[in-house]
Amino acid sequence: MNPVAIITKKRDGGALLPEEIAAFIEGFVRSDVADYQMSALAMAIYFRGMDAAERSALIEAMLDSGSRLEWPDGFGTRVDKHSTGGVGDKISLPLAPMLACCGLKVPMISGRGLGTTGGTLDKLESIPGLRTNLSTGEIYDVVDRVGCVITGATADLVPADRKLYALRDVTGTVSSIPLICASIMSKKLAENLDALVLDVKWGSGALMKKQHDARELANAMVEIGTTMGVHTTALLTDMNQPHGVAAGHVVEVEEALEVLRGEGPEDVVELCLALGAELLVSTGLEKSHSIAADRLRGLLESGRPLEKFREMVIAQGGDLDSLPPHAPSTLMAARHGGYVSAIDTEQLGSTLIEMGGGRKKLRDKIDHSVGLAMLIRLGDRIERGQPMARIFAPPEKTETSMKMLADAITISTEPTSAPPLIVERIGMPCASAPDAADRPSPAESPLDREPPIDR
Ligand code: URA
Repeated sequence: MNPVAIITKKRDGGALLPEEIAAFIEGFVRSDVADYQMSALAMAIYFRGMDAAERSALIEAMLDSGSRLEWPDGFGTRVDKHSTGGVGDKISLPLAPMLACCGLKVPMISGRGLGTTGGTLDKLESIPGLRTNLSTGEIYDVVDRVGCVITGATADLVPADRKLYALRDVTGTVSSIPLICASIMSKKLAENLDALVLDVKWGSGALMKKQHDARELANAMVEIGTTMGVHTTALLTDMNQPHGVAAGHVVEVEEALEVLRGEGPEDVVELCLALGAELLVSTGLEKSHSIAADRLRGLLESGRPLEKFREMVIAQGGDLDSLPPHAPSTLMAARHGGYVSAIDTEQLGSTLIEMGGGRKKLRDKIDHSVGLAMLIRLGDRIERGQPMARIFAPPEKTETSMKMLADAITISTEPTSAPPLIVERIGMPCASAPDAADRPSPAESPLDREPPIDR
């Protein structure tokens, strides 16, 4: 195998053969292919794309770079949710215990922040003592005893993704559809699941800035998951503003606890119910999305998922009763009245990084105490002097953070409407799925709405 010939073939727009992709990835994991050569191929893929056969070959090669989770017969139905990432996206924290309370097994392998999007593992690590580096044996044990786990990939689970993910983050090759598709699906297929739901985000705070790119990514992942025997569906969701009020680490854990007490922000609860309902229907536990969503809402009111989350935290070594304090807080008020017409959500992610809540270099340590509380939503009418956000930041970072935050919010004189949270559902019909008469009407569920026109 000649890495240079493979790089130049892709650079010039050629389609790579499965054996070329397999040899390149194998060489990269063994370090026979240098990081700079992998980076060059990633950049060529970024510009030239990959066809369906190349995408499948890349996923197979990445899967083959490590081992897969093997579950004993009769272990139970395994499910997971994966998001392409955003700001304030704490959905995994309440959703995993909610699903476990329905009797599903949830081996959730999560990631760290990528670009300006926050990472579930970084958020969870604000809980003192909690470990996110469980061994394969520990993953089996916690899922068996508790029903859910949220942890990082083990050393032997898709090592090709671990190496490539880190390179992409520092070579400007993150937002490539074939590379995101391979990264997510290789990890999810290695979990050996029965059903998977994907939360594919579009908008100013997402990896995909355009709705049609997010749709293409969602379609590619659903097709691959389905072909590989995992019941896979996706929701296309809005990331033109953060989810909920809190964005950061400890502040997001606190908001996840509010959701688990049945008191969380509406948009976060809506996403938890919609994504959870997908899995309850995919696994045949419920017949329709609206019945499944009602069951999940009832669960939140019962307090059982909160107890399940506590159980999971304890099983992973954490102590929920000693969360660290927030950094000092400062309120930001509107300089003039009007309507909130745009929020540069990526800039909010950059503000969090600037405060110390994200990484600029691979080995940077995260400050879990920093964060944001967004007190406005797109479309809101606001008055001069009205509080728009609260920042939690060390005093020396406050001025810069306030300026970045102010620049991220656009106030207009014309009223604007907020975009829909759930834009579209992408999936293939399954044996247990309800037939048309069973499905919720558009008034009951946003999942059945016609997709709006791309902005
Ligand atoms: N999440 C992943 O795991 N990989 C990506 O490339 C993007 C989001």
